[in-house]
Amino acid sequence: MAGHYEMTKTTPQSFLLATLGGLVAPGLAIVLIVFYVLGIQGGQVDAEAAAMSDQAVRDRIKPFGQSLAIDPNAPRVERTGEQIYNEVCSSCHGSGALGSPKYKEAGAWGKRNAQGYDTLLTHALKGFNKMPARGGDPDLSDQEVARGVVYMTNAVGASFEPVLKKEREPSAAEVAQGKVVYAANCASCHDSGVTGAQKLTDGAAWAGLIAQGKEALYKAAVEGTFGGPAKGGNEKLSDADARLAVDYMVDQAKTAVEAMKTAKK
Ligand code: HEC
Ligand code: HEC
Repeated sequence: MAGHYEMTKTTPQSFLLATLGGLVAPGLAIVLIVFYVLGIQGGQVDAEAAAMSDQAVRDRIKPFGQSLAIDPNAPRVERTGEQIYNEVCSSCHGSGALGSPKYKEAGAWGKRNAQGYDTLLTHALKGFNKMPARGGDPDLSDQEVARGVVYMTNAVGASFEPVLKKEREPSAAEVAQGKVVYAANCASCHDSGVTGAQKLTDGAAWAGLIAQGKEALYKAAVEGTFGGPAKGGNEKLSDADARLAVDYMVDQAKTAVEAMKTAKK
């Protein structure tokens, strides 16, 4: 039995040696090789990155940038006045919290309604004393806020329409001027839709853009957007001309938006 024990005492030792020699050493070699390969690859990536021009980097990230940029134009679902009231306004106006005029309480609304719709809407959009702008929900569109206002004011006898301030319509002459600017500076992208530029025939895209309001579009044209260059890349273009081009684009796009709406009906 003792001999048996001795046998088992030496076997693990030799096994250990065998393990060291036969397993750990090749293992170490493998680890070293892996590090070596990784080192080469890392070096290549660095070299590549260094060699990449700014433009190349931009080209690389473009598909990603485009998908980011397209999202804001996804058609958003506009809620009704009742939904807006229930989801946002009722938290105060339901109870009259913070001194807000309470829903359906004619006495609380009478004088306020007498100010007229425009003032009420401006107060609801921009805030008024303890009334937070957009009822405290910056995600509400102007149109939704207007519906919320009308929902509450019409509940106490007003008969307002949830319209937004009409934007100044460009004259036919301005649109014609804009067309010339567009052809020279913008058509190269916006006619074909290259690099994600919204084609003037893309009703769905323009419905979203038009909803942002002309000012936002003027700003985008003059200062550039994520994917669109400032003034279409023509530094010499005046701000006024860039705006005229937008007037023309919106004028054209409205036709596409209308066509889309009729097709849906
Ligand atoms: C955090 C509380 C709060 C929420 C939420 C809120 N309001 Fe108000 N609102 C007030 C208060 C307070 C006033 C009264 C302000 C005053 O007259 O000093 C008010 C007043 C108003 C008025 C009258 C303004 C005027 O000129 O007399 C309108 C219109 C209005 N709110 C619309 C809305 C709409 C629409 C919503 C939802 C989108 C909303 N409010 C959500 C607190 C709130
Ligand atoms: C080199 C291509 C290119 C040219 C030239 C170009 N655009 Fe654009 N434009 C784009 C792209 C791409 C977008 C989409 C950007 C985005 O989705 O944010 C865009 C978007 C816009 C928008 C919508 C803004 C928004 O929020 O998306 C307006 C308005 C616009 N361009 C006006 C103009 C005007 C005006 C000109 C000519 C003066 C012009 N563009 C020339 C590529 C171009």
